Amino acid sequence: MDSNIPMKSDHAPPATAGVPADSPFHPDNRLGYRRWRTAKLAAAPRRIQELVVPVRDPLSLSATELQRLRACCCRANMAIFETRTPSADKARLAALGAQLGLQRLDANLCADEDGISALSVRFEGLHADYIPYTDRPLSWHTDGYYNAPDRQIRAWILYCVEPAAEGGANALLDPEMAYLLMRDEDPEYVRAMMAPDAMSVPPNIVDGRVIRPASTGPVFSVDPTGTLHMRYSARQRNILWKEDSMTEKARHWLARLLSGATAPIFRYCLGPGQGVVSNNVLHRRDGFRDDPGAGSARLLLRARYYERIAGTETVPQLPGRRYAETCFI
Ligand SMILES: [Fe+2]
Repeated sequence: MDSNIPMKSDHAPPATAGVPADSPFHPDNRLGYRRWRTAKLAAAPRRIQELVVPVRDPLSLSATELQRLRACCCRANMAIFETRTPSADKARLAALGAQLGLQRLDANLCADEDGISALSVRFEGLHADYIPYTDRPLSWHTDGYYNAPDRQIRAWILYCVEPAAEGGANALLDPEMAYLLMRDEDPEYVRAMMAPDAMSVPPNIVDGRVIRPASTGPVFSVDPTGTLHMRYSARQRNILWKEDSMTEKARHWLARLLSGATAPIFRYCLGPGQGVVSNNVLHRRDGFRDDPGAGSARLLLRARYYERIAGTETVPQLPGRRYAETCFI
């Protein structure tokens, strides 16, 4: 027998392929997970007001503002920033992102040429077919869940130029908390969600032309920086889940978590001049109502990036809090 011929294996590749064995997110690394979990819970905000950071000039963040934004994102993967005057200037938003280390914008189908989307209700054209450009509710998701593996969205900024006359609030959940709660419930759930074929999105075909190919990948993965990445959509249509009993249990458990009251979900309705910067946290949007008669129409700017917010891979030391670990990666 030629020993150079690889042995044929009857075993499927491990569900956690690509996750380092020493990562706290590897389902078999119990000690690493316990340390990470302790630090995560110690740092976790109790109220979203803990994550609000006033910003004097988004074109030129002070060292303190930058440090506060990063600290919030280390704790919860998100921060709410408040500018003094709302502005529809996309270059201003891009400049804010650049100061946080966000450079590579995702040029998705509906983004404008500069890679930043102006989200408002559209009644005609390409945009009108997509829910973000309607006044309807948006279900739980992370951005770009349909993107190819090498174009995953690691961070986004959402900025309110003008709120709706009524409604349009967001709910936000740190994916690391979703992971933590799922792993506490059953480590086999997270193992199933780490399978490379856990969740698939069929191609987007318009008039017989493929404008976005199919996308298959894990829900939870660990990126090269060692941080957790989540790819998820709660949509019933256009999502194909792996046909496996553990995957089914895990996704139903997650759906219940997102619709229940036990997860640390933050609700926030952005006012004019306010924005969210995040390492692509889970989010949803309430439906809303514009009031054209009063000249009111919701307008938000959205920028999506391929990289995480720089310097947000560790849990910082905060005064008055005790941490088991300060660096958990
Ligand atoms: Fe989104």
